[in-house]
Amino acid sequence: MKFCPSISALLFSTPLQAETGGGVADSCCAALSASSVGHQVVYPHHEAFVESVVSYYSHSVRLSPTCIVQPESVKDVSAAVLTLVQEGGSLSSCKFAVRSGGHTIWAGAANIEDGVTIDLSKMNSTTYNPENKTASIYTGARWASVYKALEKDKVTVAGGRGGPVGVGGFLLGGGNSFHSARVGFACDNVINYQVVLASGAIVDANRNTNPDLFKALKGGSINFGIVTRFDMKTMPYEGIWGGVVTYDWSTAYKQIPAFVRFTDNIHKDPYASLITMWWYDSKTDTNSVVNALHYTKPVPYPAAYDEFKQFSNTSDGVRIDSQYNLVEELSQPGDSRNVFVTGTHVNNAEIIRKCAELHEQVIEEAKKYAKSKSWTIVIVVQPWPKLFTERGSENGGNVLGLERFDENLIQTLYDYWWDDEADDELFHRLARSIHQQVDGYAKMINVDNEFVYLNYADKSQDPLKGYGEENVKYIRHVANKYDPHGVFQYQVPGGFKVSNVN
Ligand SMILES: Cc1cc2nc3c(=O)[nH]c(=O)nc-3n(C[C@H](O)[C@H](O)[C@H](O)COP(=O)(O)OP(=O)(O)OC[C@H]3O[C@@H](n4cnc5c(N)ncnc54)[C@H](O)[C@@H]3O)c2cc1C
Ligand SMILES: *[C@@H]1O[C@H](CO)[C@@H](O)[C@H](O)[C@H]1NC(C)=O
Ligand SMILES: *[C@@H]1O[C@H](CO)[C@@H](O)[C@H](O)[C@H]1NC(C)=O
Ligand SMILES: *[C@@H]1O[C@H](CO)[C@@H](O)[C@H](O)[C@H]1NC(C)=O
Repeated sequence: MKFCPSISALLFSTPLQAETGGGVADSCCAALSASSVGHQVVYPHHEAFVESVVSYYSHSVRLSPTCIVQPESVKDVSAAVLTLVQEGGSLSSCKFAVRSGGHTIWAGAANIEDGVTIDLSKMNSTTYNPENKTASIYTGARWASVYKALEKDKVTVAGGRGGPVGVGGFLLGGGNSFHSARVGFACDNVINYQVVLASGAIVDANRNTNPDLFKALKGGSINFGIVTRFDMKTMPYEGIWGGVVTYDWSTAYKQIPAFVRFTDNIHKDPYASLITMWWYDSKTDTNSVVNALHYTKPVPYPAAYDEFKQFSNTSDGVRIDSQYNLVEELSQPGDSRNVFVTGTHVNNAEIIRKCAELHEQVIEEAKKYAKSKSWTIVIVVQPWPKLFTERGSENGGNVLGLERFDENLIQTLYDYWWDDEADDELFHRLARSIHQQVDGYAKMINVDNEFVYLNYADKSQDPLKGYGEENVKYIRHVANKYDPHGVFQYQVPGGFKVSNVN
């Protein structure tokens, strides 16, 4: 603890300890309250504080910081950062966190206890610039609101597929969208970032200005600064055909070869996208297959999905609709306790079958021990073809490191949720264990892959390491250059840090 006596004397007319116990974080909050953003600082007794805490997607991550600051402009963000990173180190022990949509599934990624959360959710506007066909999207926006804002101009962007998912975290971790086979990862469609650095400086990062930072932000997450605005390429858009189709579990194994061929053939029709979910719901004691089909043109039943027609479905919600309505439909119910664990494998039927078998075993295991009234065990299996990466390379590249791999890949996400805290240990253990078993099997049959998708990764995983040594070195270099004192490594402990890569 090193306070600068002059600042303390200035800020606290009553002794430091009087109100809240006098921890370091209290003096950081007091410094913020005394700064130009003082009116944007909220404390536990404020309604806005409680609203912010409960607006995190998962119950498991609703931490209570010492105070929350809710900036409304890039200048406010800069002022907040400057206050928290006082020159000369007087308040440099102020720990803080950065939050956009709050959809990370592990506690402490986008918030903090005994510290300050910078909650960017008030900076949530989306503007279309017809002159250059770009959209300026503030980091606190949710994807549904972005699509709504762009719809009237008949354009859209490659963004999230769940309506309430936040813009900031999603774009900084890559971003898989309905459009990825045509335009790459969502981050590959960012043409300019507005960033607040640890020095408080407000800079742009694009192909010409700070190009190293520009590239590093495409996958490098919270290692360099706070992005306040993303300028994205838009594309013309007239609607999407798609929706959610549900099938009996008896079709699950038969669908696997169709999924593998779909993934290998996306290049034949890159308007097509597919998410396969195996979904067990304890309330109905049923396991089902849920396919989300989304074709990014208003064309019904395109040939890309022909192979799936042979499986008789139990419900079918496909239609031509807006991206806005379709992502609202895909919003998973929040308000529960959650875990995400993720793996990457070569697109291969045998590994997917193994996953399905283990999924059935996990359900039986959970039935024995779960105390929750209601719990859900989902595996999300998604194509991650080479094509996604090739499109990104055309836009200048990113730091995901996927061009190292020659095969089409798949992404597995073990996505469990439940309502009783007493089951936290159980479901975390089950999710981590199935992942380890699948990964072990993948190694055995030579379809393993070291990539770990940051946006789906559990705290126990090391996604930056999975970008490959060269990219880790690059991220480290860029982090050192733009944040020489390591503010975003040490003062901002949340999220995946390059300084923690093993
Ligand atoms: C229901 C659901 C659906 C999802 N759907 C998809 C999907 O379709 N495709 C996909 O690829 N992913 C998806 N995800 C994963 C999603 O991309 C991540 O959860 C992502 O982190 C969400 O962004 P956020 O802004 O809400 O995150 P937050 O939790 O607010 O932040 C995530 C991380 O980024 C940092 N961060 C946030 N904003 C900034 C900023 N402005 N500057 C610097 N650092 C920042 C935070 O400190 C934190 O470490 C989904 C997740 C859920 C729960
Ligand atoms: C932006 O956030 C405010 C709350 O802070 C909310 O009232 C408003 O609807 C949001 N705007 C958009 C476009 O989502
Ligand atoms: C696009 O146009 C807007 C509005 O004129 C401008 O602010 C922005 O800088 C332009 N972006 C690019 C990449 O040219
Ligand atoms: C779902 O089943 C119905 C009735 O058999 C069929 O008409 C429809 O095409 C199926 N939907 C999909 C997306 O395959």
